[in-house]
Amino acid sequence: MERQKDITILAIESSCDETAAAVVVNGRTVCSNIIASQIALHQLYGGVVPEIASRKHIEKINQVIEEALRAAECSLEEMDAIAVTYGPGLVGALLVGVAEAKAISYAAQKPLIGVHHIEGHISANYIEHPDLEPPFLCLVVSGGHTHLVMVEDYGKYQILGQTRDDAAGEAFDKVARAIGLGYPGGPKIEQISREGNEDAIAFPRAKIAGHPYDFSFSGVKSAVLNYLNGCKMKNEPIVAADVAASFQKAVAEVLVEHAMLAVEEFGVTKFAIAGGVASNGTLRERMEQACRRKKVHFYYPSPIFCTDNAAMIGAAAYYEYRAGRRDGWDLNAVPNLKLGER
Ligand code: KG4
Ligand code: ZN
Repeated sequence: MERQKDITILAIESSCDETAAAVVVNGRTVCSNIIASQIALHQLYGGVVPEIASRKHIEKINQVIEEALRAAECSLEEMDAIAVTYGPGLVGALLVGVAEAKAISYAAQKPLIGVHHIEGHISANYIEHPDLEPPFLCLVVSGGHTHLVMVEDYGKYQILGQTRDDAAGEAFDKVARAIGLGYPGGPKIEQISREGNEDAIAFPRAKIAGHPYDFSFSGVKSAVLNYLNGCKMKNEPIVAADVAASFQKAVAEVLVEHAMLAVEEFGVTKFAIAGGVASNGTLRERMEQACRRKKVHFYYPSPIFCTDNAAMIGAAAYYEYRAGRRDGWDLNAVPNLKLGER
């Protein structure tokens, strides 16, 4: 059989606070993965400031793309397509990437492919797991999303459940701010939790009647805030590490429980996690144990492919490319783009 030609894609991601570009071959081999993080800038304000994010993307994007091509030792001419995240995300931030990708694809006469950000997160799992192919179940947990998704085929998704209020990462960020840890909260909560007792405080685990795969994290977040206020009123000392560890356990337990319910119900043999929160060690350990008990193969990306990056966009774009999907010059940023919509 004739071997298929390698497909090399230049991918761009600018939906939130990372300006990123990557060169990915056949959706699985990452030749370069450049990320300019704006975290230090936004830390001053305790969270992402959209206007600052857009401005910083404009400053960095050309440099990041040039670096991605240089690190991959290839030229624009060698690319088979230009891919870009076009939603969901911050509209101004997305627009920078979309406009850049359109300009490059027009100038270099290369096909343009718009990618859904969550599809990118899910596809991050393909990078380090050559054996992973749909169908599989994936839990996407990031700062903006908490989705339990059945990946039926490449580019074909069924959302089983999602958060009704805060995303898991958002809850981490808000709780971290309340206990004075700063932004972004997830890694800081994880770090301080190592010195804490995860059974010190019983925070609630929310269930939504009739919707076993949906999530709600505003209750646990409010419970933490109430606990902190109660301590202050009673002049009792707050052990931040215990609060963090107990909160982290509550969130991880809910995520594991809902995911395993779906694993059982749908009889899947492969389960993956994705998104910034998927780099959390406690969550990974608990998921791994639960999957082992259910004899389900567990997949997760390295931390660098969990948080926002362009390699995952290149991985997703490859399968879109193979399916023949191309975008025109009318491609626009869609801040609330739904998964599976084009
Ligand atoms: O995927 P991501 O980079 O951006 C979005 O698409 O939202 O996720 C960022 C989120 C932030 O809320 C951050 O606090 C959280 O992921 N996060 C973590 C960890 N690392 C990042 N949450 C818990 N534990 C971590 N180690
Ligand atoms: Zn993301």
